[in-house]
Amino acid sequence: MKILVTGGTGYIGSHTCVELIKKGYDVVIFDNLFNSKIDVLDRIEKITGVRPQFYRADLRDEDSMRPVFEEHKFDAVIHFAGLKAVGESVEKPLLYYENNIAGSINLCKLMSEYGCKRLIFSSSATVYGDPAQIPITEECPKGQCTNPYGWTKSMLEQVFTDVQKADDEWSVVLLRYFNPIGAHESGLLGESPNGIPNNLMPYIMQVAVGKLPELGVFGDDYDTPDGTGVRDYIHVVDLARGHVNAVDKVTGSTGVNIYNLGTGNGYSVLDIVKAFEAANGIKIPYQIKPRRAGDIATCYADPSKAAKELGWKAELDLKKMCEDSWNFAKKSLT
Ligand code: NAD
Ligand code: UFG
Repeated sequence: MKILVTGGTGYIGSHTCVELIKKGYDVVIFDNLFNSKIDVLDRIEKITGVRPQFYRADLRDEDSMRPVFEEHKFDAVIHFAGLKAVGESVEKPLLYYENNIAGSINLCKLMSEYGCKRLIFSSSATVYGDPAQIPITEECPKGQCTNPYGWTKSMLEQVFTDVQKADDEWSVVLLRYFNPIGAHESGLLGESPNGIPNNLMPYIMQVAVGKLPELGVFGDDYDTPDGTGVRDYIHVVDLARGHVNAVDKVTGSTGVNIYNLGTGNGYSVLDIVKAFEAANGIKIPYQIKPRRAGDIATCYADPSKAAKELGWKAELDLKKMCEDSWNFAKKSLT
């Protein structure tokens, strides 16, 4: 089976390519390399022994994508490509709406034209807004997003749902990720954001390597066991495996199917700091700061629908997430 992976040189995409190749799928990647590097292909090859075919193409430029569809017949598309920096999306909303929404519509049109109507989309727990219930099931109503990035996910879910409604040859799987962290255990693949990181684990990494002096903990007065924000951190390799299972679903059914990809465990910011320190023997100095605008107190998944319908469950624990994050960071950041 041949799978197109958009954004396949990125953080989650590259790990997913590895898991797909391991299961024998034929993988083709396109990416504009805005937030990833071409040497990821060497790394995928080092891990799997297979070098996926790569196209430098941009979602916003139909002509750049067309050769990919001219030269291959895909059984499914896994669509990771997109911009994802929450703060930047507040400053540059049009960039986000154009890249993520207009770009994905271009992709959808080409898929339709070339007769590939099976799509797995990278959505996010952010579509639940301040969730109506914890743990969050897929039946939980979607909520108000607090930034344009989040709205692109919420709106694209609607776009793909409407496309499927109009043409029941389409099969769409919407995967709502919780908080991916960790890295491939080889240390060859991981996340290395540009500039000062927004997300917790990449920030902790910068403190651990000594590039930043301390972590700011955004609020200790939430209604949570220790007052700091609680999230569902999931190892990126578990998340990647979830996509492999989703390929069976998207190729074996029609309609729109939605799954939470999380572990079902909630950990606070201070739990993560302690787990990182214990796993790696490195002290992470921190200071309590005011709450960050737009943050919610608690967010973790009920992942039972994915277990039942995809046969997928996260397997790697927090210790492994912390060890693998550090194993990658110490090689790539120092
Ligand atoms: P990433 O930035 O590492 O990967 C995204 C890739 O898409 C990058 O390689 C980038 O160069 C590429 N890209 C961006 N715009 C493009 C365009 N116009 N044309 C072609 N390629 C383009 O991000 P990631 O963490 O791997 O996230 C993958 C997907 O999962 C994204 O859609 C993201 O919004 C979503 N997601 C991520 C998280 C998270 O915490 N990492 C959580 C929920 C959802
Ligand atoms: N946090 C800190 N200090 C930091 C960074 C984060 O205390 O320097 C705290 C936050 O306040 C929050 C927790 O750590 O309580 C996690 O924050 P992240 O920024 O790592 O992650 P979020 O849950 O805010 O958001 C992430 C992605 C979103 C995605 C969402 C759900 O950034 O894009 O998970 O998948 F939508």
